Amino acid sequence: MKKKLTRWDLAEMKTKGEQVAWVTAYDFPTASFAEQAGMDMILVGDSMGMVVFGYDGTVPVTMEQCLMICKAVRSGAPNTWVIGDMPFMSYHVSPEQAVENAGRFIKEAAMDCIKLEGGVRVSAQIRKIVDAGILVMGHIGLTPQSSAALGGFKAQGRDVASARAVIEDALAVQEAGAFAMLVEGVPQEVTTFIAQKCHIPVYGIGAGLCDGQVQVVGDLLGLFTAFSPKFAKKYADLAQIETEAFKKYIDEVKNKAYPASEHMYPLKKGEDEALQKLFEEYAG
Ligand code: KIV
Repeated sequence: MKKKLTRWDLAEMKTKGEQVAWVTAYDFPTASFAEQAGMDMILVGDSMGMVVFGYDGTVPVTMEQCLMICKAVRSGAPNTWVIGDMPFMSYHVSPEQAVENAGRFIKEAAMDCIKLEGGVRVSAQIRKIVDAGILVMGHIGLTPQSSAALGGFKAQGRDVASARAVIEDALAVQEAGAFAMLVEGVPQEVTTFIAQKCHIPVYGIGAGLCDGQVQVVGDLLGLFTAFSPKFAKKYADLAQIETEAFKKYIDEVKNKAYPASEHMYPLKKGEDEALQKLFEEYAG
């Protein structure tokens, strides 16, 4: 049976220079396939807003949607480190609101830790959640929940002023007690500096090499076709496989090729005659 990693395993992997591979998941089967494949971690990302619910972004995602999906993923991957992503406005109001909602991910959905977006501006929230004994992963750089404030889904840290802001966020996240952080949409040079400067693991998405990588499952499996970020790499084209399968199914239903006899339940032996009599009873 697969052994679930601990925060100390993740810390040791950083020390040894071993990469951590993780992916998002939003349902039972995907979570179980990821676990069977040996994925180190799974993120129940608020990217579910786009990938599962078809919204334009992550902002409308609610606590209830996240918790329901976290529970499905936990059932599919009982032996994998699973991260619950805190949705927009579930931690922004106050440190008290943040700890209460973080607690729901742990208590109700059996998550191993939570992730939230922001650095300096949410350090009080991170500290409060950590003080409650809950592990926090920070998320800095391109933070999709604040994409309007950032002027769109734009890479961060590409000039010195912006790089300084990203570095300040990284230091604030570590200082507040986070056990790890995710850096999104940042140049390799800035990510390398942060990963070397910080003693906690620094993972990336669109941030070049660091202590490990995460991808959105819809991008990785070719299931999300609305757009493809520069950093996404497609390892399969499930959209094409699904569409082809649906087309074939429609065709077979229309042509009565499906269901065939092997898809039908046979009568019990010796019931034919009695059944004919039954039909006759009902006839005219
Ligand atoms: O919600 C999400 O999928 C994320 C990605 C950036 C990994 O946070």
